[in-house]
Amino acid sequence: MTKQARRMLALMDRATRYWHIPNVGRAKGRVLRRLLDRHRPTRAVELGSLLGYSAILIAGSMPPRGRLTCVEANPFLAYLVRANAAEAGLARRVKVIAGEALRVIPLLPGRFDFAFIDAEKADYLDYLRQLEPKLVPGAVVVADNTGIARREVAPYLEYVRTGGRYDSRAYDFDDDAMEVSVLRR
Ligand SMILES: C[S@@+](CC[C@H](N)C(=O)[O-])C[C@H]1O[C@@H](n2cnc3c(N)ncnc32)[C@H](O)[C@@H]1O
Repeated sequence: MTKQARRMLALMDRATRYWHIPNVGRAKGRVLRRLLDRHRPTRAVELGSLLGYSAILIAGSMPPRGRLTCVEANPFLAYLVRANAAEAGLARRVKVIAGEALRVIPLLPGRFDFAFIDAEKADYLDYLRQLEPKLVPGAVVVADNTGIARREVAPYLEYVRTGGRYDSRAYDFDDDAMEVSVLRR
């Protein structure tokens, strides 16, 4: 990750200390970075981007040819994600689409080897089912907030854990969890 991207994340971490900003944060961010280092995806998609913290972390941790497409429902937030990614030196790697994920996913071109799901919790399973035809075998799918939103994401967790298509495991944090699922080859 470049110094410019790291500096931007540090700035956003400081802001998070003053205001409650529900970004993925440092502890889960470390797990995300380890996954990105291990799997080295080149085409990633993110659903729910807020201010661009996870987008900067993901795009900044991908190999140089890596590209991230962000889908953010709120047009003003989408504008801020674009601006913050540019500030982090990642304008060429991050594309931001303003729109509802369930409307946008079917229109996304190409295939993905990494997905970060962090938008409407009750829609996680629908997001995944829409993404599936676009995922390459071995694709890594990370779902955030599977601890604090365990009721809303229960159908998603049941699907990835028992549906037979994924190898899935939970990463537990103090107050939350994140599910990491790898599409079987
Ligand atoms: C928890 S925040 C995302 C945090 C961000 N991933 C990060 O870690 O920096 C959830 C975001 O999802 C967006 N969102 C909610 N419903 C959505 C939908 N149906 N489609 C796309 N984005 C959505 C919200 O506007 C909000 O910005």
